[in-house]
Amino acid sequence: MKYQEVVAKKVLIRTFGCQMNVYDSQVAAGLLEREGFEVLQDSAEVEPDPAGCLSGGADIVIMNTCSVRDHAEQRVWGRLGRLGKEKKERPELIIALMGCMVEEHREKLFKRFPYLDLILGTRNISELPALVRRIQATRERVSRISRDGISIEYSEFTKRDSPYHAWLPIMTGCDKECTFCIVPKTRGREVSMPAEDVIREAKRLVADGVKWITLLGQNVNSYGAKERGVAGTDPGDVSLRTPDAVPLAGAQNVSFPQLLELLCAIDGLERLSFTTSHPGDATEELFQVIAKNPKISRRFHLPLQSGSDKILRRMKRLHTFADYKARVDRLRELVPGISVTTDIIVGFPGETEEDYLATKRAIEEIWFDSAFIYKYSVRPGTPAERLTDDVPFETKSRRNNELLAIQRSVTKAKNLERVGREVSGFVEARAPKGEQSFVARTDFDGRVIFACEKDLIGEFVRLTLDSVSHETFHGTLVPRGDA
Ligand code: SAH
Ligand code: F3S
Repeated sequence: MKYQEVVAKKVLIRTFGCQMNVYDSQVAAGLLEREGFEVLQDSAEVEPDPAGCLSGGADIVIMNTCSVRDHAEQRVWGRLGRLGKEKKERPELIIALMGCMVEEHREKLFKRFPYLDLILGTRNISELPALVRRIQATRERVSRISRDGISIEYSEFTKRDSPYHAWLPIMTGCDKECTFCIVPKTRGREVSMPAEDVIREAKRLVADGVKWITLLGQNVNSYGAKERGVAGTDPGDVSLRTPDAVPLAGAQNVSFPQLLELLCAIDGLERLSFTTSHPGDATEELFQVIAKNPKISRRFHLPLQSGSDKILRRMKRLHTFADYKARVDRLRELVPGISVTTDIIVGFPGETEEDYLATKRAIEEIWFDSAFIYKYSVRPGTPAERLTDDVPFETKSRRNNELLAIQRSVTKAKNLERVGREVSGFVEARAPKGEQSFVARTDFDGRVIFACEKDLIGEFVRLTLDSVSHETFHGTLVPRGDA
């Protein structure tokens, strides 16, 4: 019997956290499948049946982890405990961790969880299949965490979940030092992929049938800034920076807006989105490029975090509320109808009722299309760890719930404003109910259900928005001029 037939090879990958992790899991899945493993991917958003087993019968369970908030880590700790119990019954089960918790806790993980077999750093994904084979052969525990290099793998084997949409990381790490944030510790300093490599990969994806690419980076709009020698945002500088135009070469010569333009020029690429942006790098030049390129998504995610200047300073966000507001106003002026979404943290150390009310006013004033609202949690090793976490949990919860309720009504009102408009939609799938109905994603990232006799999955269509309920639009297909 051949080696491959005797070794266990069913892998379950569970992904927690941001889209960068989703991408990394797709790379891991692709590389494992190439080596003959059978991979099942599972979103951690779906809580398993409490009585059921977490491994789902897989021989190897890999959790791709997130450290950004305490809650994300607690879920992994809980799952590790349950997997440990399963392993007592089934000692051949291999348990592996990858992602930010590995970067944060490193070999300490082995002490805390003696039944853990493999910990893999964010820069070591390409080694995964060989390390799993080694563990299967020797049953030794393996830790592989590189400190240098870039944690981005471009691979033709990446197991995308759509033939038409692809994630494309262009930079990782972060040179900002927001005091609440663990990302600079887990993902390291900012590193950008050279522009030629990004463009080559985008062209390869398009040749493979991809029509929509989402660029990823922890601080995506500061792409190439370090390589170009453009220092991080000056706290005192509220002007909108406009780097000089330069010819294409590596990341050292290409700014984020220039990279967007180069990508928009690729024939066959129909939509380009990106996440996540820092307000300090949201420049006039970037807004101008969005305005003149209809291929670029009409959704801009721009984390505000707080409406209080005192708290923004303590967070070291490098902007005031007025700076932030001025940038959003300018963006809306240049790109009318653009959807602006945000992240908010409530209960940061020292947040008084007055500071909280400033955030509440900010949400009412800016009218975000949607907002993620988080309760502050202390992250080990961050500068804010030294501040007393003095807002009681109940107060954090109350503020969180109040802001969520306000945002829900704002989102509803904003969606109603869009009813009657004609938009571009990318047809993603059949609608859950209805034989002849499909779900499309608009250029502002809305969800639309519409009826059509023909299967249009993977195509871009024009839709009129007729109504909205529970954040889902119902629309009508606009016949094509040539049809
Ligand atoms: N630029 C990054 C931000 C990562 S964190 C990226 O998207 O890749 C995403 C959001 O989590 C932040 O914008 C912030 O609102 C929230 N967050 C980060 N650290 C937090 C903490 N310690 N407590 C609560 N929320 C936090
Ligand atoms: Fe974190 Fe601030 Fe960077 S939120 S990822 S340190 S921009």
